[in-house]
Amino acid sequence: MKIAIGCDHGGFDIKTAIMEYFDNNGIEYIDFGTFDGETSVDYPVYAKKVCASVLAGECEKGILCCGTGIGMSIAANKHRGIRAAVLADEFSAEMTRRHNNSNVLCLGGRVIDSKKAVTLADIFVKTEFDGGRHQKRVDMLE
Ligand code: RB5
Repeated sequence: MKIAIGCDHGGFDIKTAIMEYFDNNGIEYIDFGTFDGETSVDYPVYAKKVCASVLAGECEKGILCCGTGIGMSIAANKHRGIRAAVLADEFSAEMTRRHNNSNVLCLGGRVIDSKKAVTLADIFVKTEFDGGRHQKRVDMLE
């Protein structure tokens, strides 16, 4: 599995922590930027890059980090076929995979710390979709 990952300046630190975790655990990813935490940039640009990679099948899932995760989730959900979830707790990270088959995780670097970001990314990457009755509901989204 390959993960597309991107951020703006507000999510740079947690994106860096998640990539370190991926490096140490053999999880492949493509980093779509931004590449420094100092320069103010526009989150929709990075949401578009990550979503395009997921929709093209280049990456199976995406992770987007900004200050709150909210801007990234709004931007990501404009892309047909993307099911982006912004969250800050373990239960939601598990359930959005199991029930919503979310393909993009949005996190806020001003909401959660790096340790929590890594924990949530790990759950998101490893949890499978339950399918069954949830498939019909996910199909209805399209
Ligand atoms: C940038 O200051 C901030 O607005 C952005 O990172 C994000 O929180 C938007 O939702």
